[in-house]
Amino acid sequence: MQIEDKPDPAPGEGEVLIRVRASGINFADILARQGLYPDAPKLPCVVGYEVAGIVEGLGKGAAGHKIGDPVFALTRFGGYSDLVNVPASQVFPKPDSISFEQAAAIPVTYLTAYALLIVMGALKKGESVLIHNAGGGVGLAALDIAKHTGAIAYGTASPSKHSFLKERGLDHPIDYRNTDWLPALLDLTGGKGVELVIDPLGGGSWKKSYKALRPTGRLGVFGFSAAAGVGIRAKLGLLREVIKIPRFNPLVMMGVNKGVFGLNLGHLWQEREKLGEWMGVIVEGVEQGWVRPYVDKAFPFEQATEAHQYLEARRNVGKVVLTPS
Ligand SMILES: NC(=O)c1ccc[n+]([C@@H]2O[C@H](COP(=O)([O-])OP(=O)(O)OC[C@H]3O[C@@H](n4cnc5c(N)ncnc54)[C@H](OP(=O)(O)O)[C@@H]3O)[C@@H](O)[C@H]2O)c1
Repeated sequence: MQIEDKPDPAPGEGEVLIRVRASGINFADILARQGLYPDAPKLPCVVGYEVAGIVEGLGKGAAGHKIGDPVFALTRFGGYSDLVNVPASQVFPKPDSISFEQAAAIPVTYLTAYALLIVMGALKKGESVLIHNAGGGVGLAALDIAKHTGAIAYGTASPSKHSFLKERGLDHPIDYRNTDWLPALLDLTGGKGVELVIDPLGGGSWKKSYKALRPTGRLGVFGFSAAAGVGIRAKLGLLREVIKIPRFNPLVMMGVNKGVFGLNLGHLWQEREKLGEWMGVIVEGVEQGWVRPYVDKAFPFEQATEAHQYLEARRNVGKVVLTPS
């Protein structure tokens, strides 16, 4: 990655120009940099799905915002910038109680987790959920939502993250790096399994996660972290995971009372009303204190490479953001 100077962009019709104070990093940015993210613009490009900052300009018809307003937004690329134009419907007022860095940690993680757990996963009080990568950005957001719902939360994560996750409310952390997580989960649940699993790992993991469901259980698939990596060994690893992708048979699913669904927030842009409604709940959660965006580390733009390396080395707990100098 490298920094480039470009002329300041002017907001187009219906767009809000934001002076960025923090940009959220998502795992998708890493996959895009590695050339493994099908939705990314052709390289070279500016990635970045979310920002927080100050409204600096308004295009014709960009209703609902004023110059000088503190906001946060879903950007769909271009977020790693000092200035970015965003359609007005993807811009939300920043709650006063959180910093710009925390606000930049909200859009992708909390909307994804809300859609997975509440909208498609239909998680209820008293049900159990297994959150894979519980210590990551989406993982921590999912934990906030699960605990607010009154669910019992199981989570896989590197063992160094377990004590932090327990403090955040995770009922049962599971070390998936050094042990086989499925027998561990079955042990913890008296052999029953859980009602919901959210799985961004992909490949063979989806097969295992399906096995972890008890009757009426749902599996939400939403990523392929197993694809991450560069070089020939990583590509062979990816191929091995692709071969392991399970084929679900509806007749078998009917017989065992299990469901599978997929989620891609990046393909929900046309559902503006839904996104706005979910964000309303999340902002209310910030005000009520159960939405707790957690920023592990902020890197200046100049250190964007180090920031990506930090995530790739699995050192992050929660969100990593970039800040303009
Ligand atoms: N479909 C959607 O709409 C959507 C939206 C957002 C995110 N996602 C997906 O959700 C996943 C999590 O995204 P995120 O942005 O919240 O990132 P993140 O969880 O902060 O990602 C980093 C963490 O993932 C874990 N991890 C698992 N496999 C890894 C690998 N091969 N290389 C490095 N880390 C790995 C590590 O935690 P441990 O130390 O615990 O292993 C690491 O700390 C990604 O797969 C992403 O593509 C999908």
